[in-house]
Amino acid sequence: MAAEKWVYMVTAQTPTNIAVIKYWGKRDEVRILPVNDSISVTLDPDHLCTVTTVAVSPSFDRDRMWLNGKEISLSGSRYQNCLREIRSRGGDVEDKEKGVKIEKKDWERLNLHIASHNNFPTAAGLASSAAGFACLVFSLAKLMNVEEDPSQLSAIARQGSGSACRSLFGGFVKWKMGSKDDGSDSVAVQLADEKHWDDLVIIIAVVSSRQKETSSTSGMRESVETSLLLQHRAKEVVPKRIVQMEEAIKNRDFASFTQLSCKDSNQFHAVCLDTSPPIFYMNDTSHRIISLVEKWNRSEGTPQVAYTFDAGPNAVLIARNRKVAVQLLQGLLYYFPPKPDTDMKSYVVGDNSILKEAGLDGENSVENLQPPPEIRDNIGSQDQKGEVSYFICTRPGRGPVVLPDQTQALLDPETGLPK
Ligand code: DP6
Repeated sequence: MAAEKWVYMVTAQTPTNIAVIKYWGKRDEVRILPVNDSISVTLDPDHLCTVTTVAVSPSFDRDRMWLNGKEISLSGSRYQNCLREIRSRGGDVEDKEKGVKIEKKDWERLNLHIASHNNFPTAAGLASSAAGFACLVFSLAKLMNVEEDPSQLSAIARQGSGSACRSLFGGFVKWKMGSKDDGSDSVAVQLADEKHWDDLVIIIAVVSSRQKETSSTSGMRESVETSLLLQHRAKEVVPKRIVQMEEAIKNRDFASFTQLSCKDSNQFHAVCLDTSPPIFYMNDTSHRIISLVEKWNRSEGTPQVAYTFDAGPNAVLIARNRKVAVQLLQGLLYYFPPKPDTDMKSYVVGDNSILKEAGLDGENSVENLQPPPEIRDNIGSQDQKGEVSYFICTRPGRGPVVLPDQTQALLDPETGLPK
């Protein structure tokens, strides 16, 4: 390479995911190897995603990263492990038009600029690290002409954050825990793509929370150290559930899917309670939402809505189809109305075309709503204003993609600095 001034870059978009059989507990903290398999649904990146631009240039004097516009340190071991692994797999890259010629061996000494942005508030506690590390690894793999398939890339993203490995695929994804000490077989695989079960509608209730939650990383460390229930879960419960969940997904068996998702979420939170000192991720609002869904499912005789909660109070609700989702949203808005003067379009975000179907796009207000009679009482009083910050309506979605449109890049093509 001569002393060129070029900046070569790639922009990619990666989805987030929600586990329906949870990952909770590591057998190796450094390589991030789990104590059990897990299964997730990838969420539509149109509504929840990370966009990352990665750039390389001989003029960069060090690796740098900006997250949501603010420069952050790359010195942590998780970033360092991902960068080292991906660099070692870089291939030859040539772009004659730009005068770019990079050889495999150059990746070790060329510096990178990385800018990443989430299209949802990081503070909402919506697994931003999963989409973030997946996007970092995916975009660098494209930049560096890495030949590895998505499963092999997932093993690198895993070293940034465990749940990130499942964001390398769309649809329904399994993270196989693997058995090797080096972690090379602890990878994600796709069970079915997003079109396989496209009736499903996902509504996320972003629940307001006053307290700072224990991070997943330290929470699961404490559970591994102190919870006997975690040992039992990993050894006896999850292996059977994984087989059943794979069957349920394959057959689009919503009743089994719901039973398994809800039970697994509840067991994960039971493990948190079994941890010393106990960890509380759900709050009263979360519990009220569970009651609402349980009551509805029971009264219908067959499950209509599945729920699952990660390391925070937010509810992820999966409705069997659009019609059920509309009723669910009406019920949720009845019990958790927006604060006065809140625009409905900022209270229900994502695919908010659902508001029209719920009769709430025009003059109609939530006061006129009537939720299904089966769930009308017993979940607390109706007026729970402010307990839900907002709702996101989404669906199962695609895996990572490169965004070829240069206008979507987060770095300036001339300087390689944030736009
Ligand atoms: C509750 O992937 O955030 O969301 O591997 O330490 O970064 P680290 O943890 P993280 O844990 C996610 C835990 C969970 C369940 C799940 O996504 O499977």
